[in-house]
This record gives sequence, structure tokens and C-alpha cells, in this order.
Amino acid sequence: MNEQLTNESKRRWNEFADDYAQMTKKYGDLHKEVLLTPNLLRLIGEIKGKTVLDAGCGEGYLSRLLAGNGATVTAVDFSDRMIELAAERTTEGESIQYEQANLENLSQFTDSQFDAVVSNMVIQDVSDLSMALNELYRVLKSEGHFVFSILHPCFITPESRWEKDEQGEKLHWKIDDYFKERQFEQRFGTNDPVFAFHRTVSTYINTLIKTGFTVEELVEPKPSREQIEQYPSFEEDLRKPDFFVFKVKK
Ligand SMILES: C[S@@+](CC[C@H](N)C(=O)[O-])C[C@H]1O[C@@H](n2cnc3c(N)ncnc32)[C@H](O)[C@@H]1O
Repeated sequence: MNEQLTNESKRRWNEFADDYAQMTKKYGDLHKEVLLTPNLLRLIGEIKGKTVLDAGCGEGYLSRLLAGNGATVTAVDFSDRMIELAAERTTEGESIQYEQANLENLSQFTDSQFDAVVSNMVIQDVSDLSMALNELYRVLKSEGHFVFSILHPCFITPESRWEKDEQGEKLHWKIDDYFKERQFEQRFGTNDPVFAFHRTVSTYINTLIKTGFTVEELVEPKPSREQIEQYPSFEEDLRKPDFFVFKVKK
């Protein structure tokens, strides 16, 4: 674990937390609502009466949906401001307990504590993938599922972008240096950009296998025709996927 890097990453997420929370509605922001949330909830399956860890909960919308579906949720994030906002947004009766934690060190939890683990758009941010996956594996029960989404490693890479013609029409999506694994920054609004790590698909899958997980299903979310009718701007999401979702088993 690189402590200096983690502290800087935490600082930037703390600074961005209020704006992030403002963009997040009941089912997440629009991209999450259309592409991620339905896939995550389908992949995690029946959770009524189960203990679920939401790893990197942010302002907590997914924790609230999981609790609404009958799970007892533990939600962790390394940003104390995110945890504060999530707690503020939680209503009495929702079974959610919040803790501040870095996914690379979940020592406050015991081995095999959770029936299931979910993590939405966090794993690309951790600086030590192996450490985080080992910790998530350790706290998950045997036969339990870990469902997580990340930025698509093939398409959302550092400096990837649309190439446009003179009229501004999108010609194609450009990526380069796919094999060069590296840290990069993502800027949202006027805050200092937050960190993410570009890793290849094989790094993700091989690290999961090495940790002991079995891959059960992979999803590259795309909008349905009905969703495009409702949100025409999502037509563009049929040209390349932005996200990659994994369902793996301990
Ligand atoms: C893109 S947000 C996603 C938040 C939430 N899962 C959602 O879907 O709205 C990424 C979150 O991961 C948290 N995060 C990033 N790296 C982390 C780490 N190493 N340990 C714990 N949380 C982390 C950030 O503070 C932020 O809340």
C-alpha cells in the first residue's frame, strides 16, 4: 500500500464528495441508473436477510437500495466526508452501518463475515489491486459472491477520447498505449481530479483468479432500445462500452 498516494486520493475524494453527492439520485447518476444499477442488482440476486458489504459506498445510494431489498448492509468508504453524507441520507429503519475503511485494509472485519460483497466503480481507484481483492476475498463467506463494476479497461484509458471531424461529428473513439499500466487523473468540475489506475483486462481477471475467485459472469453494459427511446443520448453507448461488471465467487 502506498500511504502517501492513498492520503492524497482520500483528500481529493473528500473535497469532491459534496458535488458527487449532489449528482447522485435514488438510482445513482443517469449512467449508473441506465447501465450499472440494474446489472448490479440482477447479478447480486436475492439478498433478503443476508449480510452485504458495500465496498466504497460513496454517498450510499446502492447501500440504500440493498437495504431496501432486505439486506443488512455494512457500507465502507475511505472518505470520511462521503461517510458523513451517506449517514445523513439514511433514514431510520434502513439497516445500514457505516465505517471508514480503505479497501486495502479491512482489518475491522473478521474472515468470512459477509454473505455478499458489492463494489460500484471503486476497484479501478485502489492503488494495490491485489491487496484490495485479498481483503474482499477474506471477509466474504465461502461460496459467497462479489459483484463489482469498473471503468472499461479497454476503452476508458488515460487520454482516450472521441476523434471528431471538422463539423464536430464523432468519427471514432481513440485509445492508445493500452498495455502501459499507469495511474491517471479524472477531472469532474473544478475540484482537483481524482485518481484511477489503468490496468489491462488480463490483469483484472488474472488477479481475481490468483486471489482464489471463480469468474461466473461478465457484463459490458449497453442500453436497451427502450432506454434509448427514453434517453436518446444513450445511442452513443452502443458504439463502445464505458463499464465492465464482474460477478465472481469465493
Ligand atoms: C466513483 S465513487 C463510487 C461511489 C459509490 N460506490 C457509488 O456508486 O456512488 C468511488 C468511491 O470510492 C471511494 N474510494 C476510492 N478508493 C478507495 C479505497 N482505496 N478504499 C475505500 N474507498 C475508496 C471514494 O471515496 C468514492 O466514494
